[in-house]
Amino acid sequence: MVRNAASLLLAGILTAVLTAAVRPAQAVVEVRPVRPAPAAADAHPARPVVGGLEAPQGKFPWTVRLSMGCGGALIEPRVVLTAGHCVDGTAKNDSIQVTAGVADLKARGAVTARSERVIRAEGFIDETRGDDWAVVRLDRPLLLPTLPIAKDPVGAGPYVVMGWGQTREDSIRQEERLHYASVPIVPDEKCAVAYKKAGVTLVDDEQICAGSPQADTCQGDSGGPMVGHGKHGEWVQVGIVSWGLGCARDGYPGVYTQLSTFRPAIKAAVRKLR
Ligand code: ARG
Repeated sequence: MVRNAASLLLAGILTAVLTAAVRPAQAVVEVRPVRPAPAAADAHPARPVVGGLEAPQGKFPWTVRLSMGCGGALIEPRVVLTAGHCVDGTAKNDSIQVTAGVADLKARGAVTARSERVIRAEGFIDETRGDDWAVVRLDRPLLLPTLPIAKDPVGAGPYVVMGWGQTREDSIRQEERLHYASVPIVPDEKCAVAYKKAGVTLVDDEQICAGSPQADTCQGDSGGPMVGHGKHGEWVQVGIVSWGLGCARDGYPGVYTQLSTFRPAIKAAVRKLR
């Protein structure tokens, strides 16, 4: 009885959260906190995360902000990789404004560009069902470092996630400054069990779960990169912020698009955009 009521509640919350997340106007941005919360916070695991670290200018030079309230990563001078649910599927989408080259969106030195064309994953239905990626061609090349997509399947982590989204689940604002946090990988099986209770079946090879009550992404961070270190210590992108039940809730990690699975398809889409 109690269990059923709880599941219903969760399913209801999940539906509400997801419905909100799908609407571009509400797809917001945001942050994950890195600092371990004080022990007292553990007693209230459902509380939104507080904290997180502000990224110094230049630390993540390929992270960009998109005007519908999402993040993205510059993977070529003229191509941004973001989440499928952040864009509408129309190829001739020229309504996205891109802000790049700054951790503080209002800082001088911000460079901007506009979208020219968008290719979204063919199989995309909604973010909970996988295929949550899209590539955006810009109207001009940006002279900034680009982020390579990792070849290998996700390792042990932890990985770093970032965005200008909310710093707490109940926050109503996006951040002006880029925030980042390190998130622990949660094994697929464990994550699947949790989300099953909320009525969602995870797509194992298309989704990576990561996060904890101390660190998670949140609304408005969608589309932004999850990164790790490559063989030579360089940053490589392993995931895209996709969705989650609330933010930093105990037992409900954030869900990220698993890029190792989509690397060939994304490369092919990028070639089409050239
Ligand atoms: N769907 C959200 C967005 O549009 C991202 C949510 C991530 N949630 C999480 N708990 N990690 O910005």
